[in-house]
Amino acid sequence: MAFPSPPWDLAATCSLGFEETVAEELRALGVDNPVPRRGSVAFRGGLREICSANLSLRTAIRIFLPLAKGPAAGRRSLYELTAGISWENLIAPGATFAVAVVGRAPGLEHSGFSALVVKDAIVDRIRGHRGNRPDVDRRKPDVGVHVHLASGRATISLDATGEPLSHRGYRYSGGDAPLAETLAAGLLLLAGYDGSRPFLDPMCGSGTLAAEAALIASRTAPGLRRSFAFERWPFHDPAELDAARHQAARQRREPPQPIVASDLDGRAVARTRKNLERAGMTRYCRVFRRSVTALELPGPDTLIVTNPPYGERIGDTEQLRPLYKEIGDALKSRAAGATAWLLVGNRELAAIGLRASRRIRVFNGPIECRFLRFDLYEGSLKGEAGVGKERTEDEG
Ligand SMILES: C[S@@+](CC[C@H](N)C(=O)[O-])C[C@H]1O[C@@H](n2cnc3c(N)ncnc32)[C@H](O)[C@@H]1O
Repeated sequence: MAFPSPPWDLAATCSLGFEETVAEELRALGVDNPVPRRGSVAFRGGLREICSANLSLRTAIRIFLPLAKGPAAGRRSLYELTAGISWENLIAPGATFAVAVVGRAPGLEHSGFSALVVKDAIVDRIRGHRGNRPDVDRRKPDVGVHVHLASGRATISLDATGEPLSHRGYRYSGGDAPLAETLAAGLLLLAGYDGSRPFLDPMCGSGTLAAEAALIASRTAPGLRRSFAFERWPFHDPAELDAARHQAARQRREPPQPIVASDLDGRAVARTRKNLERAGMTRYCRVFRRSVTALELPGPDTLIVTNPPYGERIGDTEQLRPLYKEIGDALKSRAAGATAWLLVGNRELAAIGLRASRRIRVFNGPIECRFLRFDLYEGSLKGEAGVGKERTEDEG
């Protein structure tokens, strides 16, 4: 099978709950008709779309170029599906490769075994064409091959991304339970943030939400400063990537509204400052040491997005209850006119004395969370639980 010319069927993977957000981002990049699936979005495109998706998508984790899909029930069918791909056009002479397998199928229960089957088929195919075999390099391969097994079928893809897009490269140290950068960006986009309102994270930890807010508000493509796996493909066109980088760089602007991050813990404040510096976002953000109880809005119509501690150990819930009450009280008494979104990983803690106007189910890694919206109207904030228009739409 010759390697087909573009446009190809491509896929952008993402955390569960963010498929529509990624589809919206793709539309904004000019991609027609992206199709959300479970944990990924399918779209059509060529090298240009692979470049712009990797550079600019904030919520996607990886971009894949699927090469073959077919039944996989045991070694033989997986081997044949793999051997039917023209690897001699995809792995240049002297280039290395690696195989990653996710999922299982009948007779292919162990990912290590499935990866070996795929590797053998690739090596045999290239040896048959060139007389010599390509080497495997698991750490930094020139070509990453991704195999997805589910329901007796396999999808074999090239990984266009390499290091996942969540690794923006700005985070020095995570601190306690940092959010993945892609998750932080996805939450901001779900909350409708586009930089046109003042932003506040009053419990900023390592500053991921503030850094992503600054990237969004300054229209900075999150991948501008990193490299991608597709740059080592034999059919990569550097001019295409240069053009995409220039186009992304031209979009940049000064954020029109303030971006503020604060935390009670001085070490968290120091981490946030360091991470913002590495992201090149320092001049767009103000960072303070401050308790959420002393919350101050940076301007009218502020958007608050925050991720309070939620603890995973027994007893954490009881210990954290007073903090959640304080958060509710601070929002009622100090945040009139704002919209607040809280990522809550422990549903028992979600009762903060305010009624959520929206609840969205999202996943923080394996933890099922609720992303709750509170509308803090002026003049109706005297501690009653009925603040905000009730719209108990649970989207999950
Ligand atoms: C789960 S972490 C936030 C992680 C952050 N989203 C990130 O990506 O790094 C919660 C943060 O809340 C802070 N915190 C706890 N109690 C606080 C309070 N009363 N006022 C302000 N911050 C507080 C903790 O110091 C911690 O940094």
